[in-house]
Amino acid sequence: MTVTSPRKIRKAVFPVAGLGTRFLPATKVIPKEMLTVVDKPVIQYAVDEAIEAGIEHFVFVTGRGKGAIEDHFDLAYELEATLKARGKTAELKMMQDGRPAAGTASFVRQQEPLGLGHAVWCARDIVGDEPFALALPDMLIHGKRGCFAQMVDVYNRHGGNIIAVEEVPHEHVNRYGVVALAEDMGNETFRITGMVEKPKVEDAPSDLIISGRYILQPEIFTKLSTQKPGAGGEIQLTDAMIALMDEQKFFSYRFEGTTYDCGDKVGYLTANVALALDRPDIEPKFRPLLEKLAGK
Ligand code: UTP
Repeated sequence: MTVTSPRKIRKAVFPVAGLGTRFLPATKVIPKEMLTVVDKPVIQYAVDEAIEAGIEHFVFVTGRGKGAIEDHFDLAYELEATLKARGKTAELKMMQDGRPAAGTASFVRQQEPLGLGHAVWCARDIVGDEPFALALPDMLIHGKRGCFAQMVDVYNRHGGNIIAVEEVPHEHVNRYGVVALAEDMGNETFRITGMVEKPKVEDAPSDLIISGRYILQPEIFTKLSTQKPGAGGEIQLTDAMIALMDEQKFFSYRFEGTTYDCGDKVGYLTANVALALDRPDIEPKFRPLLEKLAGK
């Protein structure tokens, strides 16, 4: 029997059209994805993760007032020329490394924030008929190896649809999407047979929550095109995935790394502290200040 390897993941979708109301007034003119964690905008972490995984095309689903994201991924000609003239090579390299090459970034508008599922659906023409990666940039994942790179390995072994999950304390499961596990495939990978958004603690099928990184087959767009609004009156990605589960394989993968929910104030502040403590250029000065503030 010949085993055909699954189609390569070339494109990644980044939905960034949400209003970011939890961060008002900061997000009145600055997109929440442009808020910085230490010294990089939140969106850059997700794009860097996709670059590490070999993604070739970056699709941003944007909305009104999100122009700064487009500018951020453009060439800042005067700035780069000045850095070059001043011999600031490290800074120049940093700018160049995090920028998609010409013609490899697309921006599509979601005119109204009708929900995550609707935002993903807005990318359908640019993604076309091929599997793709999807990152919720609010969920900053920090670790030795990027979450997407780990997921691509799992995808190359099993194909289908892959959902990154992480374990949370049982009493917290009611805040998240939770997966129902079926067959253990080894290497922290399970075939899954169901998922449920914000279950009651006693009804939760596991303690593994969906954490903002997906590899999806293009048939998800067909499901999304007829998906009725669900929880919160929004078109939910989870509902479309549940519908697709009748036809295709879904796997959960428990990645190595830590997630910080930067769409939430405490998560965002924690990300800043944790990533600063992981930086050799910042940690020695920062830690004593932090201990003083904490009254240690
Ligand atoms: P969130 O629900 O966390 O983002 O969506 P939000 O609506 O911007 O935040 P709050 O609750 O008002 O503070 C997760 C991701 O999905 C995108 C968001 O931009 C974010 O990256 N999103 C959400 C869209 O692109 N379109 C939508 O209609 C909803």
